Amino acid sequence: MMSETTLWIPGPTQVRKELLAECARPMIGHRSKAMTALTERLDPGLKLGFGLALGSSAHVAVHTTSATGLMEAALRGAGPRVLSLVNGAFSKRFAEIAALVGKQVTKLEAPMGSAVPMAELARALKEQGPFDAVTVVSNETSTGVRQPLGELARTLAAFPDVQLLVDLVSYIAGAPVDFDANRIDFGFAGVQKALALPPGISVLCASDRYLAKAKQQPLRGYYLDPLRIVEGHEARATPATPCISLYYALAQQLEDISNGLTLPQKDRKKSGAEAWNARFEEHARMQQVTEAWAVSNGLELLPAPELCSPTISCVRAGDLDVAAFLAGMKERGHVLGDGYGELKGKTFRIGHMGDHTETELASMLQLADDVIAGLR
Ligand SMILES: Cc1ncc(COP(=O)(O)O)c(C=O)c1O
Repeated sequence: MMSETTLWIPGPTQVRKELLAECARPMIGHRSKAMTALTERLDPGLKLGFGLALGSSAHVAVHTTSATGLMEAALRGAGPRVLSLVNGAFSKRFAEIAALVGKQVTKLEAPMGSAVPMAELARALKEQGPFDAVTVVSNETSTGVRQPLGELARTLAAFPDVQLLVDLVSYIAGAPVDFDANRIDFGFAGVQKALALPPGISVLCASDRYLAKAKQQPLRGYYLDPLRIVEGHEARATPATPCISLYYALAQQLEDISNGLTLPQKDRKKSGAEAWNARFEEHARMQQVTEAWAVSNGLELLPAPELCSPTISCVRAGDLDVAAFLAGMKERGHVLGDGYGELKGKTFRIGHMGDHTETELASMLQLADDVIAGLR
């Protein structure tokens, strides 16, 4: 039998066996009453995950596609002039897709490891606009950089007609989205990161005004038409056969998070928004512990402290041999991530997200101390 390893890569993350068991449930028809009931279990948790304000008119939905599919869907419903904030591999992909679906794209770039400064965004909106939409990755998985959502909302307040399309892939369920307060128009994420499920379906939230604008866009296609996706979800009639097994796992996970079941013992009585907030605080603590661990080993994180991701720490390797370090960790049962693209071998990444606990993190980091000591 293969020995078990624990995944600390920046996604997919470790999945609890109870959730894997949900995926093994007997199949049901996707046009059945049982499917309607299953889909109905999703909405309350999705609304909490996207942090909808009380009385929000935003629409949550699920689609069977990886997150890249929803990146494309977001753009198919957007107006023709797009400003893309690019500061890493996934924000670059967002801009590329915008061009591929026929938008006029202006890129606002920042070096890998940093976020796009808001003063530059304000200037671009003023001097290079008008724009219909801005694309942003809230948490650049490739560099562990968070692009603060509150600052984006404040900057965009002076440009009320510009829609905000946000990739929340490695952010949702790890930090507060506050969809309405952060004036997001279309937010989306896969489920294989901080939601800690197997990959294959994605979740989204769209504002009324996004959907109204989408109606005016020609050639939205079929499978990735955001209107068809949202309407299908709301009518409990998906446009195509969904991945029912993952719907089961998502329903269970959203309920478990909302009922405080994934929290440390002391917080298990919490429920609803309070339980989600406790989950976010747990992720923030895991980030701090990981950062302190890096410093104690003479290492530093790639982003500036105020931009460090709550879910993924990207550590500059310095003179540490990344391949040897990762191999040493794997021998001890823990799989960590190498740097992404040009950062391979120069950084390594720890995904401290999903259902990982602080206790598990502490013991993994202790082993990492030993591996590093052995290499030096
Ligand atoms: C920030 C971000 N956006 C988009 C994606 C693409 O997601 P998927 O592989 O599910 O299509 C990823 C994948 O790691 C990601 O981290």
